[in-house]
Amino acid sequence: MKISCTINGDKREFNVSPGDVILDVLRENGYTGAKRGCNTGSCGMCTVQVDGDSTLACITPARNIDESSVETIEGLQSQDTLHPLQEAFIENNALQCGFCTPGIIMQSKALLEQSSSPSESDVKEALSGNVCRCTGYVKIVDAVLDAAEQMPADTEPSTKQ
Ligand code: FES
Ligand code: FES
Repeated sequence: MKISCTINGDKREFNVSPGDVILDVLRENGYTGAKRGCNTGSCGMCTVQVDGDSTLACITPARNIDESSVETIEGLQSQDTLHPLQEAFIENNALQCGFCTPGIIMQSKALLEQSSSPSESDVKEALSGNVCRCTGYVKIVDAVLDAAEQMPADTEPSTKQ
């Protein structure tokens, strides 16, 4: 079937097969920021946003994004300006191999859109489904809290137009 959607603000059309998941469509069309980790919905490394909701792209059927708006990690940077979460992850040394980072940043973005000043426990709870093999999570939580301070409460985080 043919599906139409926007990805990071760009209108796109794709032919998808019944067994395709969102991650297949993204990665086969150049959006390789979302990672295929467990491929069973357990690690959060494939997290993207669909119509503003955090979505595990490895287990969600591709047909679900028909007529929807998808945002991936590639959409966060606005021209030469990184999103505050991206800046905070760099400043806090919150990544090592980086394989988990796109999913964690997308999940964190969803949290900050719901709660502009989350507590440490809010961040830990929001990221409880995201696995990181490298960092021990402390710097990741620090980065999300720092990003929250950098983002005005009434400002929608930047997305590519
Ligand atoms: Fe999707 Fe692990 S790759 S949850
Ligand atoms: Fe390596 Fe998180 S930085 S898995």
